Amino acid sequence: MIKTFSSRAGRLSPTNITFLEKNSPCVLKLGDVPKTKKPIVIDIGFGDAQSFSKDVMSNEGFCFLGIEPYKKGFARAVEFYETNKPDNLFLFNGDAREYIESIDFDIHFIRIHFPDPWPKKKHIKRRLISKQFLEFIHSKLKKGSKVEIITDSRVYQEHINELLETQRLFEIIDNFEISYEVSTFHTKGLKKGHSIERYVLLKN
Ligand SMILES: C[S@@+](CC[C@H](N)C(=O)[O-])C[C@H]1O[C@@H](n2cnc3c(N)ncnc32)[C@H](O)[C@@H]1O
Repeated sequence: MIKTFSSRAGRLSPTNITFLEKNSPCVLKLGDVPKTKKPIVIDIGFGDAQSFSKDVMSNEGFCFLGIEPYKKGFARAVEFYETNKPDNLFLFNGDAREYIESIDFDIHFIRIHFPDPWPKKKHIKRRLISKQFLEFIHSKLKKGSKVEIITDSRVYQEHINELLETQRLFEIIDNFEISYEVSTFHTKGLKKGHSIERYVLLKN
């Protein structure tokens, strides 16, 4: 499987290490099922966990399953869980594609906010969103499930537009039930004057 994330570890502080090593009940392994009756939202690549944590708090009717390979961000999300003990948060440390492949329960929503753009031509294969990825999540989602993608990268927007024009798996709609705070990468995009595009896909 081609890697869609960079191998940056970020300098781990002693606090980060404590939470990474903690046997927290919110942490899932491959194949694990989150114990919840709420609709499940998978957040692919929540980054530093700052806005993600706020979204968990302000959308209590949904159960978030945050997936992030970046250890420092993951440690921060575990720290947030251990401090606040929300009953609507589970976490997986690794590649979202591997976790989603390993499970067989209903996913109601997938969010992908500011995926790594991999703007260079030689890196196109590293972009998470591809024809194969859309086919893969389509095969895993139930009818009525939704996917929200947000990006400030013009090349990624062009890439997504092309993919969406040639696919018949999802209907493009506007409404997505879960609110979100402006994230770190969203702020960076705004500071650079980038236009932000949001795509909501519905499995019919
Ligand atoms: C540009 S950052 C955006 C972070 C955050 N969503 C935000 O808006 O600030 C993209 C994140 O996606 C994560 N990522 C990339 N590929 C992934 C994958 N296959 N599964 C889960 N996370 C992934 C990266 O580690 C990175 O933290």
